[in-house]
Amino acid sequence: MKHHLRKSTIYCISALFLFGCSNKKNNNSMIDTKKETIKEKVDSLLSKMTLEEKVGQMNQYNGFWDVTGPVPEGGTAKIKFEHLKKGWVGSMLNVRGTENVKEVQRIAVEETRLGIPLIIGFDVIHGYKTLSPIPLAEAASWDLQAIEKSARIAAIEASASGINWTFAPMVDISRDPRWGRVMEGAGEDPFLGAKIAKARVQGFQGDDLSKNNTIAACAKHFAAYGFSEAGRDYNTVDIGTSTLYNSVLPPFKSAVDAGVKTLMNSFNELNGVPVTASKFLQRDILKDKWGFNGFVVSDWASINEIIIWGHAENKRQAAKLASTAGSDMDMEGYVYVRELAQLVKDGIVKEEIIDDATRRILTVKFELGLFDDPYKYCDPENEKQNIGNKEHHDAVLDVAKKSIVLLKNENNLLPLKKNGQKIALIGPLANEKNSPLGSWRLGSDDNTAISVLEGMQQYKGNTLLFEKGLDLIEGEASFTQHVNINTTNRSEIKKAVNTAKNVDVVIMVLGEHGFQSGEGRSRTELNLPGLQQELLEEVYKANKNIVLVLTNGRPLTIEWADKNIPTIVEAWQLGSQSGNAIASVLYGDYNPSGKLPMTFPRNVGQVPIYYNYKNTGRPKEEPNVFWSHYIDSKNTPLYPFGHGLSYSTFEYSNFKVHGSSFNINDFIKITVDLKNTGEFDGKEVVQLYIRDLVGSITRPVRELKGFELVNLKKDETKTIEFNLSKKELGFYNNDGKFIVEPGKFEVFVGGSSVTKLKQEFELTK
Ligand code: BGC
Repeated sequence: MKHHLRKSTIYCISALFLFGCSNKKNNNSMIDTKKETIKEKVDSLLSKMTLEEKVGQMNQYNGFWDVTGPVPEGGTAKIKFEHLKKGWVGSMLNVRGTENVKEVQRIAVEETRLGIPLIIGFDVIHGYKTLSPIPLAEAASWDLQAIEKSARIAAIEASASGINWTFAPMVDISRDPRWGRVMEGAGEDPFLGAKIAKARVQGFQGDDLSKNNTIAACAKHFAAYGFSEAGRDYNTVDIGTSTLYNSVLPPFKSAVDAGVKTLMNSFNELNGVPVTASKFLQRDILKDKWGFNGFVVSDWASINEIIIWGHAENKRQAAKLASTAGSDMDMEGYVYVRELAQLVKDGIVKEEIIDDATRRILTVKFELGLFDDPYKYCDPENEKQNIGNKEHHDAVLDVAKKSIVLLKNENNLLPLKKNGQKIALIGPLANEKNSPLGSWRLGSDDNTAISVLEGMQQYKGNTLLFEKGLDLIEGEASFTQHVNINTTNRSEIKKAVNTAKNVDVVIMVLGEHGFQSGEGRSRTELNLPGLQQELLEEVYKANKNIVLVLTNGRPLTIEWADKNIPTIVEAWQLGSQSGNAIASVLYGDYNPSGKLPMTFPRNVGQVPIYYNYKNTGRPKEEPNVFWSHYIDSKNTPLYPFGHGLSYSTFEYSNFKVHGSSFNINDFIKITVDLKNTGEFDGKEVVQLYIRDLVGSITRPVRELKGFELVNLKKDETKTIEFNLSKKELGFYNNDGKFIVEPGKFEVFVGGSSVTKLKQEFELTK
């Protein structure tokens, strides 16, 4: 993206250097008591702080470079600097690069009374400079090790650039592809989402937070943001307790259990209360019930938005509500810094609330080692060596290949033959170096992805012809602007059709531009935007041997393509190494193994659509109209959750539950044999689902409860074993209590959520 250096920015940077010249004493010695525990250090520091300094720790300012939300009133650079020098700023976001971070850190450490270092936050969502696939794509790999590694690399690069806190992972479950932010999460399933949340937290935070290449993670957005009504961003959320406890909260709980240091709340309201003001979520569930001892940051000015929602009259009331509810830090809202100290003095907010929040924030700073060396992330040599190196590119290439999902492969059009073929590569996204970077890439450089064209050009045995077919976009493609793929200009279509006429295979790269999904990018249509459908149909008239490569940030409705195009590959937005990963799959150097983390609907009317739905009282097709269905569409999705093909084929046999009746405390052993019956070595994601047939709260028709990635050579067979325990068989009741109920269960094993392989068992008390 373009980073517009506004006038205020220039003022700020020069101001930084001016402040830098005055050389006050470093007051760090006041808090240098190494042998004490972190708790003792925090208590001792807290006892020296004024009320305003404590409130200052709860204040976070944007650092003028990258604006990732509307700029709230009052946020002038001049005020920010005054506050920074007074010790009234605990954190900054969007300051990056060792030099810049060092400057703001120096002011905090050397110019303020107590010299408390800043925690520096940034949206490191899927990589810093070297970009991994967007998180939804990575989730399609189901490969927890690869996902953890990808987060590790992101942390290494971000920390080398001065950052010590990422606003990731985004762990919001969503069933609505209209919502643009589904690209940022792990899809629709709480079980898979919980595993991925843990892997990402471990990747960012590593095994020792005090190292200079690990950073604090932030599970967001707490909570239920992914259930925005009608998929419109920032919208109302109104869901029942069963959905909250069983679908929304599990990935957050998993992140907390994995030791995540921070959480971010969100813009939505939940059942009438803006969640930034929700004591129920932040204080009662997160801090009291789960025992979370890190801190909660608001989302961008979301404390102000409590007023706009109509839940607080003014900033004073918003500050009171948010702080008592457990929002510890105010992101770029100017509410806490302006209101909180007075609220305490007036006896409206208890000082313990401020102490609790400050203690939490200081603890994370101590754990990061910032008090031992506030400049530990600011080494320019480290910055040069550890950003964008080959090892990082190899790792993101690896996870990019694993993220690709083969949706359909009729006539075995793929893998492509390596020699003697004439291939046409067509599509407005085929030569794109920007779009594959997705919409969260503030630390990276524009136009740095390997395009599909570049990836395919490395295979020299075939003749490759390229036609874009459509000009890409109308307007500016940037983080803050709307973009659309050409809706009017058909001048390139004819050329593409002519080229397609005389080739063996046509590869068409269509989908969404990277800036068509993400925050603020909800859609009411899920089709191929612009004239792409027309281009596809025109080319199809000339040559039916089409491989459709989709690059997009959300499930799309591609019913026509599914009916007509023999081969379809879901390649998402795969980051820096995108084109290399796609070419390697098209040519069979990597045998695709990804599985969908989100259901693909047939049409928008089916949304929200998800595999773990409830049965209803009228699920069965009847000769009359009185059953749960549509009169103009099937109920079933186009591609179900967990679906994904390989160039190989896999055969399941010998599916066994070892026993028929089990006590609630038993482990239930389940085995199945898997054989690679195809022509290639390959990998299958073996999935296990259960159905609890009768529940005091009705249970979904299927719930994912286990999966395993199995590599099999051609003709090889392996026995796969799962062990279910009460952890997988129970659920949360409407009081948020985890219960396990005796009764009959069905268990399913296979390569997707619609597998028919079924066994049964009974659970007794
Ligand atoms: C987003 C957050 C993000 C924050 C800071 C907000 O608009 O909702 O996910 O971390 O901005 O950039």
